[in-house]
Amino acid sequence: MTKNERIISGFSKLNRSQRIDLIWDRLGLDEASRSVLDNFLHQSPATQSLFEEFSENFLTNFFMPMGVVPNVVVNDQSYIVPMVIEESSVIAAASRAAKFWASRGGFQARVTGMVKKGQVHFSWSGESKDLKAAFPFLKEKMLAATHDLTARMRKRGGGITAVELVDKTDELANYYQVDVSFETADAMGANFINSCLEIMAGVLVQEMNTKLVSGEASVIMSILSNYTPDSLVECWVECDIDELAPFSGKLKPVEFAQKFTTASRIAQLDVSRAVTHNKGIYNGVDAVVLATGNDWRAVEACGHAYAASNGNYRSLTFAEIDGNRFRYTLRLPLALGTVGGLTKTHPVSKLALEMLGKPDAKTLMMIAAAAGLANNFAAVASLTTVGIQQGHMKMHLTNILNQLGANAEEKSACTQYFSDKNIAYAEVEKYLNQIRNING
Ligand code: MEV
Repeated sequence: MTKNERIISGFSKLNRSQRIDLIWDRLGLDEASRSVLDNFLHQSPATQSLFEEFSENFLTNFFMPMGVVPNVVVNDQSYIVPMVIEESSVIAAASRAAKFWASRGGFQARVTGMVKKGQVHFSWSGESKDLKAAFPFLKEKMLAATHDLTARMRKRGGGITAVELVDKTDELANYYQVDVSFETADAMGANFINSCLEIMAGVLVQEMNTKLVSGEASVIMSILSNYTPDSLVECWVECDIDELAPFSGKLKPVEFAQKFTTASRIAQLDVSRAVTHNKGIYNGVDAVVLATGNDWRAVEACGHAYAASNGNYRSLTFAEIDGNRFRYTLRLPLALGTVGGLTKTHPVSKLALEMLGKPDAKTLMMIAAAAGLANNFAAVASLTTVGIQQGHMKMHLTNILNQLGANAEEKSACTQYFSDKNIAYAEVEKYLNQIRNING
């Protein structure tokens, strides 16, 4: 293939069937596999065309299972929490932990801030002191220019809450930022923030270049920051140590509490463990974020940066023992919306939010955090007692059996046979073949 042949031009202008023709021809795919693309289209043309508008170069819909975790009690309110996740056992683990904590006071949660930031990154070749002296005037001009755009948001209790100049010339010649703080009420607010920033950037350089004579200003870029350490939620559970018995396995509750606390410390000090530990938190958080039509990439990017904010990547949860009390706390930044974006347009996300009682953004932050804490508690409890494979493997067996095309009878025979054995693909296949040979 020559370099030119490698490049596909005009792909986005093709209609769906032309796109499929081109791909199948180019990749030499099996004709029969084309039917997969059609099998996953929605039967309602209106719904189907909605999905096609969510993204470009559409081929088909990609299905993910949505399940629910009942008994998630947050601040005395009980929720049935929808979660979209492909990893078997996550919902089972969260359900077990949620039910356990529901009868021990539930999850307590509070949102300590909802501030999001955006930045205008710009260069200024003139004197720093000239820019600093002019900044109060520039700030007024920038704010005035966004007045119409922020009117609706201000009515909803949000808007621009601070505008600051940041001098970064020590790190990069002529580089400055306008750091803008926003409150976006119940919206995630990405479009709102970016629109405000672009208007502010235009006004900034125009005013600087007409009023300040010692140099030249130019915008490098204007964009929200997905790092939202001031949009923070804290969620915790606590109980008497004796009450931990259902999770302590063969250990005494007090031994379990100590071992759990040590595991939590390890996740604070060792990056290899901390990443996996936090992954277990995001099993729950992301599944709620995805179900409710929110941006899980932003949530993940921010959470991991926050986890590394003191210079070492560490876990987002910490366990404490105080006398006979065990307490487990999760603190994480979340930027979620319950209006705008996919929250109203994706029919299943809309439904998920209805199932949660149409929460405001703050409440959704607390519910997502509770799901994260539930999953993480269940994971660390398993790891420090029976190990993780026991729970995982039951679901893993189902996946293997589905891959091997087992029918209901074969599944039940295999489930019984493997109930006290290690589950490995080859072993399951061997046993399944044995049953099939016997049954002819
Ligand atoms: C698996 O998806 C998540 C766990 O690895 C988390 C953990 O190790 O804490 C079980």
